[in-house]
Amino acid sequence: MPDDKNCFSDKENSLHHARRKFLKQSVAVTAIAIAPPSLIKAAENKADEKAAEYFEKQSMELILNGTPKKLNIEPRTTMVDFLREQHLLTGTKKGCDYGQCGACTVLIDGKRVLSCMTLAIMAHGKQVVSIEGLTDDPEKLHPMQEAFVKHEGMQCGYCTPGQIMSAIGCLREGHANDAEEVRQYMSGNICRCGAYPNIVEAILEAKEKGGDKV
Ligand code: FES
Ligand code: FES
Repeated sequence: MPDDKNCFSDKENSLHHARRKFLKQSVAVTAIAIAPPSLIKAAENKADEKAAEYFEKQSMELILNGTPKKLNIEPRTTMVDFLREQHLLTGTKKGCDYGQCGACTVLIDGKRVLSCMTLAIMAHGKQVVSIEGLTDDPEKLHPMQEAFVKHEGMQCGYCTPGQIMSAIGCLREGHANDAEEVRQYMSGNICRCGAYPNIVEAILEAKEKGGDKV
C-alpha cells in the first residue's frame, strides 16, 4: 500500500531501486570503456605497486658453494630460480618444476632437496651446494662425479647434476647398502635415457671412495 510520503507501492519502489542500480553500473562500465589509456595505466601501476608490496624483498644470508652471501630476495623465489637466474648456476636443471623428476636436486646443510619445491628464503642461515660447488677444478672431480664418468652414468646428461647431488645425499643418509637399496632411494631421480644400471654402479663405487663428502 502506498504511504502518505510516497505515492509508490513497495513493489514499485523496489523496481525503481533496481533500475537506479542498473543505471549506475552501466555508467561505471561505460566510464571504464572510454577512460583514457593514461588513466588505465595509472590504475595498473597502482595494482603493480600493491603486488610488489606484497612480495616485498627480504634480506637473507647463506653460504652458497662455500661463499657467504648477503642478499635481498623476493620470498616467492624458488631455490632453482635463485640459482639459475640470479646466480647463473645453470648446472641445476629444471625438468618438471613440479617435484616429480629430481633434476633440480641440490644439497642444503648436506641433505638433498628438490630446489623447485623449496623457497630460497628457507635456506636463510644454511649452506647450499649445487653441482658447481662440488669442485672448482675441472681436473679434479668429486668422487661421485668421477664414478659417474667411469661407469658412464649418463647419456644426454640432462638429469646428471640432479642424479649426482641426489646420490651424494643418498650416501650421506646411509641408503646405499646394495644395488636394490640404491635403486629404491634414487627412485625420485628420473633418467629419460635409462642410464639407471650405470648410475647404480657408479654410486656403489663412489661409496667406497668418499662419494658422500660435500
Ligand atoms: S624440476 Fe624439480 S623435481 Fe623436476
Ligand atoms: S642421461 Fe639423459 S635423462 Fe638421464
